[in-house]
Amino acid sequence: MKVLIIGAGAREHTIAWKMNKSERVEKIFIAPGNAGTKEIGVNVDINVDEITKLMEFAKNNKIDMTIVGPEIPLVMGITDLFRENNLNIIGPDKFGSKLEGSKAFAKEFMIKHNIKTAKYKEYNEFNKAKNDLGIYGYPMVIKADGLAGGKGVLIPESEKEALEALNELMNNKKFGDAGNKIIFEEFLEGIEASILCFVDGDTILPMDSVQDYKRALENDKGLNTGGMGTYSPSVLFNDGLILKVKNEVLNPFIKGIKEEKMDFRGIIFVGLMIKNNEINVLEFNVRFGDPETQVILPRLENDLYDVFEKMNERKLNEIELKWKKEKAVCVVLASGGYPEKYQKGYEISGLENMDMVFHAGTKFENDKILTNGGRVLSIVSLGKDIKSAREKSYEKIKKINYLNMIFRTDIAKL
Ligand code: AMP
Ligand code: GLY
Repeated sequence: MKVLIIGAGAREHTIAWKMNKSERVEKIFIAPGNAGTKEIGVNVDINVDEITKLMEFAKNNKIDMTIVGPEIPLVMGITDLFRENNLNIIGPDKFGSKLEGSKAFAKEFMIKHNIKTAKYKEYNEFNKAKNDLGIYGYPMVIKADGLAGGKGVLIPESEKEALEALNELMNNKKFGDAGNKIIFEEFLEGIEASILCFVDGDTILPMDSVQDYKRALENDKGLNTGGMGTYSPSVLFNDGLILKVKNEVLNPFIKGIKEEKMDFRGIIFVGLMIKNNEINVLEFNVRFGDPETQVILPRLENDLYDVFEKMNERKLNEIELKWKKEKAVCVVLASGGYPEKYQKGYEISGLENMDMVFHAGTKFENDKILTNGGRVLSIVSLGKDIKSAREKSYEKIKKINYLNMIFRTDIAKL
């Protein structure tokens, strides 16, 4: 089988690595890929938003299955385009992708289908929003409706800060058109957790749990990032909580996508806030998480091609997911300055003979591997317990070097 993976991050490198373990997969293409994916398959010089070119590539190269990593092509409607051309692709249709592409749409969906979420109100006009500042008290949550690369959520603590945030979003267009519409949300306290599931429209199969570390600095200080590390399974989840999430979130979700007639053959990633056994949904992502994927797929026993094939045929009910007993820890190595301004183009050394070092912002140039982004590498290890997995990951890091390398030293320190 020939597979095309769309994206350029450590998430996509991990998907390629796992696909490469399938005896059914003969050839893997990654568009556009990075210096790591090039070692597993063939990098294709097409960007994630060039969906027509991607479709033509899949057609011309007789690709059996395409897997979409990031949200942008999904929200643009890549799955509809592929399916119109009789190509197999993993990801929800354009309509289903609105669950990530529009925060207001996701809130409407949750309320309509009885999934508990924070109170909210939406605004298209600055003055109307300004009049309502603080309606839910402070801190308040302001979200750009559209895609903002994970940065579109602001949590001002006072009216002054809230006015500045609103101005940035709606007048100064900090996130471009993503801020044409915004929502105000009630601030929820609690512990955050996420759950990722394979979905085929009828069946929803939760993956094993993950805990992520969003903030840039130790002890969860500093700015929010795409994610500085993860471990799996999360110590937060027990059978009781999983059952509650199934009853209160996952089953209503499946019922909802059916009623809305979404073609949802893909991944749903649900962000949860949990307090005193009460579960609220913060957000939906319609794809694998990064760096969640880096600890989930190495623990999955099943052949990933089989899972996607059954998903595509709407026969996920025939799959039983099996997880390794070993635990996994991922530590993200980033460029100094990330998530704000950083330099790139530095040579990376020490990558020889290392398994499960997944590349994100890297590129291959003149026989060298260079840094090429904010998050550079995901260092993943398996161990009999979290402690031994984390020790292995930090041991690997000692061998790797590039200028201004930064990482958190407290990932999975329980
Ligand atoms: P989102 O992209 O919607 O998950 O928001 C990003 C982050 O903002 C979340 O991971 C939470 O830390 C925080 N957040 C979002 N919504 C809320 C809320 N209603 N109350 C408290 N924190 C929130
Ligand atoms: N780690 C969060 C995300 O992939 O959106």
